[in-house]
Amino acid sequence: MINIQNIARDITWIGASDRRISRFENLFPLTRGVSYNSYLLKDEKTVLFDTADATVARQFMDNLEAAMEGRDLDYLVILHMEPDHCALISAVKERYPGLTLVGSMKALQFVDQFHPALKDLPRMTVKEGSVLETGSHKISFAAAPMVHWPEVLFAYDDVNKALLSADAFGTWGAIDGSIFMDEHDFEKEYLDDARRYYANIVGKYGPQVQAVLKKAANMDIQMILPLHGPVWRQDLGKFIDLYQKWSTYTPETEDIMIVYGTLYGNTGSAAMAASARIHEKTGKAVHVFDVSETDVSYLIDAVWRCGKIVLFCPTYNNGLYPKMETFLHDLTALGVQNRTFALAENGTWAPAAAKLMRAELEKLKKCTILDNVLTIKSTLTDEAALDAFTSAIAEA
Ligand code: FEO
Repeated sequence: MINIQNIARDITWIGASDRRISRFENLFPLTRGVSYNSYLLKDEKTVLFDTADATVARQFMDNLEAAMEGRDLDYLVILHMEPDHCALISAVKERYPGLTLVGSMKALQFVDQFHPALKDLPRMTVKEGSVLETGSHKISFAAAPMVHWPEVLFAYDDVNKALLSADAFGTWGAIDGSIFMDEHDFEKEYLDDARRYYANIVGKYGPQVQAVLKKAANMDIQMILPLHGPVWRQDLGKFIDLYQKWSTYTPETEDIMIVYGTLYGNTGSAAMAASARIHEKTGKAVHVFDVSETDVSYLIDAVWRCGKIVLFCPTYNNGLYPKMETFLHDLTALGVQNRTFALAENGTWAPAAAKLMRAELEKLKKCTILDNVLTIKSTLTDEAALDAFTSAIAEA
């Protein structure tokens, strides 16, 4: 069944949602699916902005054909060459063989890598400041390298004052009903997915996101058309402010998170006792995660929310509990900044986890690691030590 929506003058959303997907990039668990957005501009010239993922090929091609209403496609603009958006370039070319590919030099290079059979397709290289005139619309391009790949471009339509923002300002979660975010409850329906998507997919590239936010500040933007999730046409400042926070690694809230690993429950029990003491002393919300039970992408999401992070880790084979090691690896890989860490370790004969965690966390910029370490020998019985540890966290 055709599912397209006119979203602005001459622009139709022709994307599709995949609700069967269980892991994005075969890595991040999804519970509410994802949309792959694609936008068609029908002016004197016709311009398709990005395609979609192979899993939604049939819906996407049906949508495209219906939206085209028998016209030929002049341009296929590639804002982002990752396969969740570029998988259907060949299919589009088969249907509209007269099209010209438009993209950054790197995007067109990636086209050859992903789709070697398209080498002879006419192409137009665009870059920062390039303008594509389509009749009554002028589409200008801005480079957005590493948001989320190096070839990424943003496009700006002067008629609708619409920013086509590639992966930026996107979210996981399929489109339910309205394509417009202002007809949803963003905080209830999408914020957690939007943050988890940002932190895990783009989180490493805060400085690059900052650079494009500075460019965007000089544009008159009335709409944001991302590649995933609903379109923004109201309260844009709300999402832009969040991006400002997230990309500067500023904790979104004053909440505190505790992550524990536990083999037999003793370290977990200590972590939960600490959570009550920390809440008593701070009045702040404390979020507790069992590192074995929680996919690391949700832990990373919580890191972007919380300013203080308390780690409870057993010593395991003279090293770190493996799931905790994975979490720490992600923290350093994503270049987390501006956080305060507190460390608790457990070891029946030779506790070593605090020292090992500290060595990992010292790789992070602008982070504080509290000196007060809670060392547990098998079970926590020292109430005074727990009090001192949680007071240090509260006062940090
Ligand atoms: Fe939605 Fe970086 O691709």
